[in-house]
Order: sequence, then structure tokens, then C-alpha cells
Amino acid sequence: MRPAVNGAQGTQGAPSSDPTPLMRMTTGLWVSQTLSAAEEVDLFTFLSEKGGSDLTELAYGLNLSERPTEVLVTACAALGLLRRQGDHIVNTDLAEDYLVRGTPYFLGDYIRMLREFVYPGWMRVADAVREDRPVRDESAPGAGIFAKENRPAFFWNGLWPLSALTAQTLAAEVDLSFITSLLDVGGGGGAFAVELCRRYRDLSVTIYDLPHVCEHTQEFLRGMDHGERVRFHAGDFFAEDLPRGHDAILLSMILHDWAEEANRELLDKCYRALPAGGLIVISELLVDDDRSGPLEAALMSMNMLVGTPGRNYAVGEYRSWLEDAGFTRTRVVSFHAPGANGVVLARKP
Ligand SMILES: C[S@@+](CC[C@H](N)C(=O)[O-])C[C@H]1O[C@@H](n2cnc3c(N)ncnc32)[C@H](O)[C@@H]1O
Repeated sequence: MRPAVNGAQGTQGAPSSDPTPLMRMTTGLWVSQTLSAAEEVDLFTFLSEKGGSDLTELAYGLNLSERPTEVLVTACAALGLLRRQGDHIVNTDLAEDYLVRGTPYFLGDYIRMLREFVYPGWMRVADAVREDRPVRDESAPGAGIFAKENRPAFFWNGLWPLSALTAQTLAAEVDLSFITSLLDVGGGGGAFAVELCRRYRDLSVTIYDLPHVCEHTQEFLRGMDHGERVRFHAGDFFAEDLPRGHDAILLSMILHDWAEEANRELLDKCYRALPAGGLIVISELLVDDDRSGPLEAALMSMNMLVGTPGRNYAVGEYRSWLEDAGFTRTRVVSFHAPGANGVVLARKP
């Protein structure tokens, strides 16, 4: 305990540090929940369709009273999501690009997924810290955290924009043009598969995922551009070997779901499934080797603590697991994207 400074009895002098960063942390929830509420009442889609509006028309159009509408609009303006031009309220570019329903990278389904699926567990994050176990409620304990009973289908749709934007950045930063067939292990909602096929015309991707996920995604991709080059292989990567015959394997946001032993098993399976010269790509929010950041990776790791037996791992951990599995020529490419800050790449000799 630090001794009291300026010590008149029972009182302390002013602390040496500014409490502002701490105040921002205490109210971080207010920011995410303001965005969530605005998304839930469809504020940004309404304003986009109307080309902006005044407060009375906005409240009427959203079926809200004027007082909460005023409060919400002011908060969204302060957060950089709306602009007030006199009485006229319009979306900023940020809101127009990502918060309007029907646009290609609409984040509303992601926000809904967080609100309905992820945040209830966060309310018990201290239990996860104390008890070293996921605290998300599961209606079918033992069936697995990704079982149909335990994860709503909107989880995969919610991930779509995050993963699509990440796949675009990955494809811009790493040359994958020499690959013609990719196995996307735990390929989920198909965003990586579609975005990589859009970028590389000779590429075909096989999504390997649990049967109910393959079924859902197959339906979701029906008729979508480039979807015809996406195939499916339903299975359970802990129960069976991975299919062979692909030049490369992608693991995007897979290894952070599991503990080290399970990840090492999965990397051994990837190694066996690849041909000589085959490439493995691990896309994640990577933790720095000194374990002091970056913030996005560290907080995603907390999110994994809440809902999974995993965490976000450091580059050095991936490097050593890959080498132990037999991979060589490990390298890291760093970038900035919503679902990853880089990739770890390695080759089967
Ligand atoms: C966090 S999601 C990542 C999805 C996708 N790779 C992306 O980046 O958008 C993890 C994926 O792993 C899949 N998965 C979990 N356990 C699995 C298993 N035992 N076998 C096959 N896939 C599994 C889940 O169904 C889910 O689609």
C-alpha cells in the first residue's frame, strides 16, 4: 500500500496520475451498449433510407418518445456515428458504411450476436477468472460449445462482416496466388472462402466444419457470387483426420477456442493432411510475445475466457507448436483487420 502523501491526519493529497483512463474503462460498457441500442432500434438504417431527418420525424419513424431519441442521438453524435447539421441529423460515413442494414459489410448482425449470445457471459466474467472455466450458459452441457443446441445460427452470420473484412486484408497482405485448393478448417459462415475466391480466380475452397454448420452455410451461400467454388466437408476435427488433397490449410479464429493440447493435436492433423510443400495459415488476433498487448488481442482473449477453454496465444507459442508438429519456414505477417492482426505462416517440408 502506498503511504498517504501530504499527510494531514485522515486525508491524502491529490494522486499523481490522471484518473481519465480509468474513468473510460469504468464506462466502456456504456459505449458498446449505446451502439447496441441504436442498432436494435434501427436508427442508422432509418436515417440512411430517409437521407437524414429531424428529431421529431426520427422519433415518430422509430416509434420512440422524443426524450430517449434525443439522448440516443446526442450520444451517437458524440461517438462519431451521427452528425447534427442544425435540426437535420445524418449518419456519418462510418455509420453509413457499416451500420445500415443491407450493405455488404453491415455489422448489425455482429452487434446483435454480441448482445444476445456473448454479453450475458461477460456479466459473469469474474466467475470465469476465478473458476478457470467458460461461464456461458449451455442448454446442452457436454454437447460441445459449437453444438447446434449451444450456439444460435446467427453466430455464424454475425461473424460474416468481421471475417470478410479480415479475409480482404489478409489477401491484400499475403500473396496466396500460387494456391489452387484451400482447406478452410472450421470455415464456419464461409466469409473467408468467398472473399478469397473473389480475390483469386483459380482458387477453390473446401470448408471443413461440423455438419449443422456446413448445412447452414451451404444454404447461406446459395446463389452468392463465387459461392460455386466453395465446397463443404462435414466432420469433427477432434474425432477424425482432416481431408487431404489441398495445397494449403487455413485456421482462422480456431486455435483461440481451444487449450494448448487440443491445438497441438489439430496442428498435427493439419501437418498430416498437407502435401510436401503445403502451406498452413493461422489467422488470429495475436498476442505480443511480451504478453502486454495489443489491446484487441488481449480483450479477445478475455472473451475466449468467458466462452471457451481457449485464449489468444502469443506468436512464440504458435511458432513452437508449429515447429514441434514438423512445420518449417515459419514467418509472421502483421496487419490491421477486425478479426486478426496478422497471420502465422509455415510450410510442411
Ligand atoms: C470462431 S469460429 C471461426 C469461423 C471462421 N473460421 C471465421 O474465421 O469466420 C470457429 C469455427 O470452428 C468450428 N468448429 C468448432 N469445433 C469444431 C469441430 N470439432 N470440428 C469442425 N469444426 C469445428 C465452429 O463450428 C466454427 O465455425
